[in-house]
Amino acid sequence: MEKAVKSQIGVSSRLSVAPMMDWTDRHCRYLHRLLCRRALLYTEMVTAPALVRGGALHLLEYSPEEHPVALQLGGSEPLELAKAARLASQAGYDEINLNVGCPSDRVQSGAFGAVLMFQPGLVADCVAAMQEAVDVEVTVKCRIGVDDQVAEEALPAFLDRIRSAGCRRVTIHARKAWLQGLSPKENRDIPPLDYDLVLRMKQGFPDLHISINGGITTLAQARSFLDAGLDGVMIGRAAYHDPVSVLADADPVVFGTGTRSDPAEIVHRMIPYIETHLIRGGKLHQISRHMLGLFAGRPGARAWRRMLSEGAHRPGAGPELVLAALAQVPPDEISQAG
Ligand SMILES: Cc1cc2nc3c(=O)[nH]c(=O)nc-3n(C[C@H](O)[C@H](O)[C@H](O)COP(=O)(O)O)c2cc1C
Repeated sequence: MEKAVKSQIGVSSRLSVAPMMDWTDRHCRYLHRLLCRRALLYTEMVTAPALVRGGALHLLEYSPEEHPVALQLGGSEPLELAKAARLASQAGYDEINLNVGCPSDRVQSGAFGAVLMFQPGLVADCVAAMQEAVDVEVTVKCRIGVDDQVAEEALPAFLDRIRSAGCRRVTIHARKAWLQGLSPKENRDIPPLDYDLVLRMKQGFPDLHISINGGITTLAQARSFLDAGLDGVMIGRAAYHDPVSVLADADPVVFGTGTRSDPAEIVHRMIPYIETHLIRGGKLHQISRHMLGLFAGRPGARAWRRMLSEGAHRPGAGPELVLAALAQVPPDEISQAG
């Protein structure tokens, strides 16, 4: 009999911010959470060996305000992933996601990430072991295929295997990963997007919760995918570089609740968080680097960015710098920018 899984995530998975190494750290997620109360936030990938063999439990730290938040794991050994999933669930994560989409060299050498698209049976074993170990949902993030796989065949075969292993929710980056010859960055742009294939997967797997990812830059686009029948939309780079356009309106537009958030107010709400971080010995730039895009595309954006990026590394830099940078943004813009 299949295990009953607790999910606290509910509607939040209609819109998620993608896992992005070095970008979606806890400070970034805190900022995103202030901008949008509902969207599901993903951590950077944490490898199972780092947690289980390396004991790097600090990688699991987050703020309670970040919920709902999913931890993404990288790995390919079922028992080790199960142990890592248990640690993550004990830390209070709402979901554990397995990375089957990341093509970077470092990840390939450990035989995990996108290369696992070639081994659906192993991924199924990983998912089953992880789900057995925890009560929260175990999900998968994958590509439509890798290298010379025929995506129309490989993707449904892959989904079928992981569904049999108990996976109920999957996010599909709608392009292949080419494991030879492209850098990880090129692999996010060069292989062509095939949104139609992902839409067809929803028709073929109506019981699977399917989120689409890749190249989505606006909430209007996100809405149209939801209207077309997909269950969720995951946005990565656009949410990072222009968080206000993607997230400030998301509560009312995607979740039908709440109001749009105002970026100037968000800056003020970041101040206590920054103060606490500084008191604990942290540095301003560790947080402010994620705030650079808050006024993207609006008058004052350049001065805001420049002041923050030049000043935040200086010894003693703190909230005053953030407020001085905010003063560079014309007040009219502030009230319209949300
Ligand atoms: C800087 C960066 C780091 C990333 N790190 C991860 C990662 O750790 N795990 C993962 O599954 N995908 C990772 N990705 C891929 C994103 O999650 C996403 O699939 C990809 O950027 C496509 O979505 P987008 O076009 O909305 O950005 C990363 C992307 C970027 C830009």
